[in-house]
Amino acid sequence: MKIINKISDFIELRCQISKKIALVPTMGSIHEGHISLVETAKKHGDTVVATIFVNPIQFNNTEDYISYPKNLDKDVANLEKNGVDILFCPSLSEVYPDGFDTTVRVNYLSDCLEGKYRKGHMEGVATIVTKLFNITAPDYAIFGEKDYQQLLLIKSFVKDLNIPVKIIQSKTVRDKEGLAISSRNIKLASNERLFACEIIKSLNKGFEKIISGQKNPEEIINFIREYLSSFDSIKIEYISIRNPYDFEIINEIKEEFVILIAAFVGEVRLIDNVIFLGKNE
Ligand code: PAF
Repeated sequence: MKIINKISDFIELRCQISKKIALVPTMGSIHEGHISLVETAKKHGDTVVATIFVNPIQFNNTEDYISYPKNLDKDVANLEKNGVDILFCPSLSEVYPDGFDTTVRVNYLSDCLEGKYRKGHMEGVATIVTKLFNITAPDYAIFGEKDYQQLLLIKSFVKDLNIPVKIIQSKTVRDKEGLAISSRNIKLASNERLFACEIIKSLNKGFEKIISGQKNPEEIINFIREYLSSFDSIKIEYISIRNPYDFEIINEIKEEFVILIAAFVGEVRLIDNVIFLGKNE
């Protein structure tokens, strides 16, 4: 695996690659979820490029940025073992040199849910991902469904700005208790981990209610809230049921929907979702 730190070096190398490139952008702290993105990338591209960059402008909280788990040596070994061909791993000043003053913003998706509770987060993601697309010029880029709003945001600016990359969405990877794999999970104490598993259980119970006939989103949201209210250390930030394509709030559940949640378990903020894209999914 080639490791590249400089943007100019990557662009030079990119000019020599004629094969299809599949990109897996990450913030490091590589886990099974990322490896599953790499596996998806291998199915689409001939050359798999991964990036590691902990992007400060997508953190709405400096403490969260500073404490974001970092383990570059382990990440390098893990990505290499799993068949990544090129790792792009730039420094902060390489990505945001003095005078950097541009923001990419998708209006609607930057202001609701994650955008509302994490001010500037969505713009931060859109800006770094646009830069990574411009630097690496991938044919495909793989993103996980766990960050569902992020996935829609990326699809949206790729379409609006005519960026020639195909976005591939990859299923959320879960542990055997159903907890979505996330870099933040290592911050959970072992009892908190048990509570964290209740989050997906609550969404699945809500999902079952919809499938068995309850079509009123408010009823489902209240039901999920009530289920989670019995766990003292879970504090819900939002629960929302939306259209999985345009992300509009749904007033009556008909066919496709996504149930999204953000909740704190102790000090750790977790997000998760359940997606239903119709019976023929
Ligand atoms: O999902 C992530 O890990 C990050 O938001 C991303 C897409 C790598 C941008 O920093």
